[in-house]
Amino acid sequence: MHSTQVVGVDGELVRDLTTDGRRAITHLIRTPQGKLIVWKRFHAGCNANVQREVAALRSLSLIDDYDVIPPLLDVGDDYFVIPYYADVLRKGGLLYRLGLRLMPLGVLRRVFAALRHFYGHGYELLAVCPHHALVDESGKVTCIDF
Ligand SMILES: Nc1ncnc2c1ncn2[C@@H]1O[C@H](COP(=O)(O)OP(=O)(O)O)[C@@H](O)[C@H]1O
Ligand SMILES: [Mg+2]
Repeated sequence: MHSTQVVGVDGELVRDLTTDGRRAITHLIRTPQGKLIVWKRFHAGCNANVQREVAALRSLSLIDDYDVIPPLLDVGDDYFVIPYYADVLRKGGLLYRLGLRLMPLGVLRRVFAALRHFYGHGYELLAVCPHHALVDESGKVTCIDF
């Protein structure tokens, strides 16, 4: 386990969640308080990307009637921090282990309802895909990567 620093928050790197990694690295961090957070740190030259994603999170959270937008826990010049949501649909996740390989209809409906709502406010979310809709054990749906 490495130790890392998340602006004032000492944390332990639990896992690298990075997928494509072109614009940013995404790390799962455990804070000293035991909280799991996600630290998305953008590469040099990706300022526009971090600013756009932070702006999207802030704007959408103001009209988040479906409660699908993660709260921003911390923001810096080249990173932001949001809570970690253990995704039960993911490989290794609870529902996946039980044999569920499809996204439940209720989850899709919630995502689409939220998308329609945001669209009605003038936001079209182009990066939406199943990998960016997380479902935790309580069934709460969270959308990421804007
Ligand atoms: N808050 C989070 N909770 C759980 N997993 C997350 C969270 N944020 C990101 N991830 C995981 O990390 C991956 C990469 O994050 P993402 O924001 O999609 O980065 P990129 O812009 O590089 O695609 C996601 O596909 C997802 O699997
Ligand atoms: Mg992504």
